[in-house]
This record gives sequence, structure tokens and C-alpha cells, in this order.
Amino acid sequence: MATTNTPTKAKRKIRWVRSLFYWALIAFIIIQFFQPDKNNQDMSMEADISTVVNVSADVHTLLKTACYDCHSNHTNYPWYTNIQPVGWWLQDHIEEGKNHLNFQSFADLKVREGGRFKTVEALQDHKLEEVTEMVKEDDMPLPSYTIIHRDAKLTDAQKQMLLVWVDSARAQLAAKAAIAMAP
Ligand code: HEC
Repeated sequence: MATTNTPTKAKRKIRWVRSLFYWALIAFIIIQFFQPDKNNQDMSMEADISTVVNVSADVHTLLKTACYDCHSNHTNYPWYTNIQPVGWWLQDHIEEGKNHLNFQSFADLKVREGGRFKTVEALQDHKLEEVTEMVKEDDMPLPSYTIIHRDAKLTDAQKQMLLVWVDSARAQLAAKAAIAMAP
């Protein structure tokens, strides 16, 4: 009995693993038909942060490489984002990232009535303050993103460049606000 029982069990297990594999494959194929909406791919720079404060070409290039995929209205989609669930995952981050901060519509930021910030400059300043925090703590770009996008991972020199830029940008905003307040 025991001698015939063992191979049957093993066979049953193989059959089970095989059917599990086929179902997973079918599920994988089916989800490919559900492509997420793409970021709207608007390249206009009319309300870009560079229209609000000075952004050197080097800093702009760095922001575009490391941050604009999730913090602007256009994203460079590598081919593998056409594969689900990778595309869903990225789209989710883009929507959330843009909600928090959009470098490309920085000039269009509006303060909420009765909100925490009284002036647009104060709100913009707050966003930039968060950039400093994120960069200092290595929270941005999202680590899950830099695993694949190696070129988005910030070197110490790039971090330094961003931090220096943010400080000067915030000083510019403060000067602007002071002029606006002056009688
Ligand atoms: C892969 C997408 C992605 C990339 C690339 C990315 N971010 Fe983000 N970012 C997000 C998401 C998602 C959030 C909101 C959730 C969170 O805070 O983790 C966010 C939030 C932020 C916030 C707001 C935090 C807050 O508390 O409101 C700042 C500031 C920020 N990111 C800066 C940056 C900077 C600077 C870069 C480039 C150096 C960058 N991000 C690159 C996805 C991204």
C-alpha cells in the first residue's frame, strides 16, 4: 500500500502546483487588459516652479530626472510600466505625489479659505520646506522607485545642490512676500 501511495501523492502535488501556475498565468494575462490612465503628458512650463523662483539648469535637470515623474504633469514611462501591476503601482504614486506637490504647476498653487496658509508665498515656502525634509531624510525619491530608476538616486553632491537651491528659493519667496506686504 505504502509503495503505491507515495508516488500518487507526489503526482497529485505536481498537478496542484501546475494548475496553480496556470491560473496565475491566466490572471496575469487578464490584468494586462486593464491599463491605468497615464499622466496627462502636458509639457507646458507656464506655471512651472522656474517661473516662481530661480532654478538653475543643473537643478532643473536633476528635478526632472529624480522628481518630475511623480511631481509634474508628465511622466517618462519606461517600457515595463506597460506591464501590470507595475503600471498600476506607478500610477498610484504619480497621483498621490502630484497631490502633495506639483513642480510644474507651482505658480498655480492656491491658498484655501481659512486654511493654515494666508499667502501663496507661505504655502509655496511650506512645500519647499518639505522638499528639504524629504531630501535630508532620504525619503524622496521613493526608495521603491530608485531600485529600478538608478539614475534618480541622489548622490550626496546632488542632495547638497538641492538643499542649497531650496534655501535660496525660500529666501526669494520671503523677499517677494515682504514686498507684497510693504505699504
Ligand atoms: C515614484 C514617485 C515619486 C518620485 C520619483 C518622487 N516622489 Fe515625492 N512623493 C511621492 C508620493 C507618493 C508622495 C506622497 C506620499 C508620501 O509622502 O510618501 C510624495 C510626497 C512628496 C513631498 C511632500 C511630502 C508631504 O509631507 O506632503 C515632497 C516634498 C516630495 N515628495 C519631494 C520629492 C522630491 C524632491 C523628489 C525628487 C528628488 C521626489 N519627491 C520624487 C512620490 C514620488
